[in-house]
Amino acid sequence: MDNLKYTTVDATPVKSFFVDMLTRDIELDDAILDLLDNCVDGILRLRGESIGETPYEGFEAEIRFDKDSFLISDNCGGIPWSFHDYAFRMGKDSQERDNDLPTVGVYGIGMKRAIFKIGRQCLISTQHDQDQYEVEISPEWIADQANWSIPVHAAARRDRSEDGTTIVVDKLNENIAKHFTSDIENFTRELVRKIETHYAFIIAKGFKVTVNGNAVEPRPTKLIFVETNNGNKPVIRPFIYKTEVDDVKVYLTVGFTRPIPTQEEINDEQEEKRYSSMDAGWTVVCNDRAVLYCDRSELTGWGEAGVPRYHTQFIAISGIVEFQSNDASKLPTTTTKRGVDASSYLYLQVKNKMREGMAMFTNFTNKWKGRGDESKKFIDSGTPQPLDQTKVLAERLTMNPVHSGLRGEQFKPKLPMPKPEPTSRKRISFLKKLEEIQTVQRYLFGEEEVTASQVGEKSFDQMLREAQQ
Ligand SMILES: Nc1ncnc2c1ncn2[C@@H]1O[C@H](COP(=O)(O)OP(=O)(O)OP(=O)(O)O)[C@@H](O)[C@H]1O
Ligand SMILES: [Mg+2]
Repeated sequence: MDNLKYTTVDATPVKSFFVDMLTRDIELDDAILDLLDNCVDGILRLRGESIGETPYEGFEAEIRFDKDSFLISDNCGGIPWSFHDYAFRMGKDSQERDNDLPTVGVYGIGMKRAIFKIGRQCLISTQHDQDQYEVEISPEWIADQANWSIPVHAAARRDRSEDGTTIVVDKLNENIAKHFTSDIENFTRELVRKIETHYAFIIAKGFKVTVNGNAVEPRPTKLIFVETNNGNKPVIRPFIYKTEVDDVKVYLTVGFTRPIPTQEEINDEQEEKRYSSMDAGWTVVCNDRAVLYCDRSELTGWGEAGVPRYHTQFIAISGIVEFQSNDASKLPTTTTKRGVDASSYLYLQVKNKMREGMAMFTNFTNKWKGRGDESKKFIDSGTPQPLDQTKVLAERLTMNPVHSGLRGEQFKPKLPMPKPEPTSRKRISFLKKLEEIQTVQRYLFGEEEVTASQVGEKSFDQMLREAQQ
């Protein structure tokens, strides 16, 4: 009879899961980047595919924060009312994803997670065409476990003429308020740096981001490229590899950003007098957004099979690997979209190419070690080029098909290598007993007439061959 009590169990989620737990896995600056990602996704939905050199021109996001509140306001098309079914819900299913645009929104959580990370009260006002409405999240709503519907009001037309969204969060969480007050200088510097690096491609393609009134300048990785090459001499150019697998386009390039460092620079770097290392390493870009910036760990192949661990002597080496897909779930990134999914099979295969390319430049660096001045002239003869320009220049190069591992095509530069130093010589001379010399002579030459020094030399050569095996 007792079995009757086993009916069903309640599996409704608890709000604190979203509000307190999910938000722990993401840093504040990354949560803010999630909001920027939504702006760019908005532009793509509005515009269709990102075509041309500056597809984001005319679009902007303004970020402001102070001791009381956080605001992000954009002109990126707004949230159509027809999206309300999933836009404000925690999570979305696969049918609700864009499958024909290179957007990055996958999970349907970014906006909500960012809001809960920042504070307990939020007003989202949005305008899309004829739709103008406001969605309000309050501390009472957060506390009420039973109520999962959020009130919506019709709103007045925006002050800004274009369609867009404004999110204002107040009742800031205690630790967040600290970032916006006593720690504001530090926090702003780090946030701006994150945007200028992670959004370098998007800003360079016309998007404008301001943080407390200041426009953020892009900080793209530029690789040295020698354009003209008379007579096919070895010159400095990046390694390039590209392919398309399962609807994901991959473009990889690695090379030098600057001359290899002198010993003095290496010492300064180690004593933290300079920070050039911050711009060395691999940047992984998914649909224009950098999900990893200048990584120097095993995640990007450093210290693995044929590649040394990162060391300041490799300050000059940087690489970019770009993944582009209209199905964001195929991109090798984590749910926070600020990291690489190291278990992705595609990424692991591409990583082999990353290592192959990188090894050419660590090898160059090692070969020229201590002769930095000589190698500098090769690097100085090229121009640092951002990725889009590298792509244009690469059109003129002959790419070779790749037959093993992940297929595709690649360009392997012929890098200038130092001439081997003339080997120095030294005389060996020694005295030995005559009978001993004759014994060795018979052993090596039989009855042939030779000099004692020929005996000595042949003994040495034979020993050398053995030692070299
Ligand atoms: N600034 C914005 N402009 C236009 N649409 C937006 C904006 N912010 C959010 N949206 C809409 O709200 C939806 C939910 O955003 P949210 O960031 O929570 O999830 P997502 O972007 O779909 O997925 P992910 O969790 O991967 O970010 C988006 O899919 C988009 O339709
Ligand atoms: Mg999102």
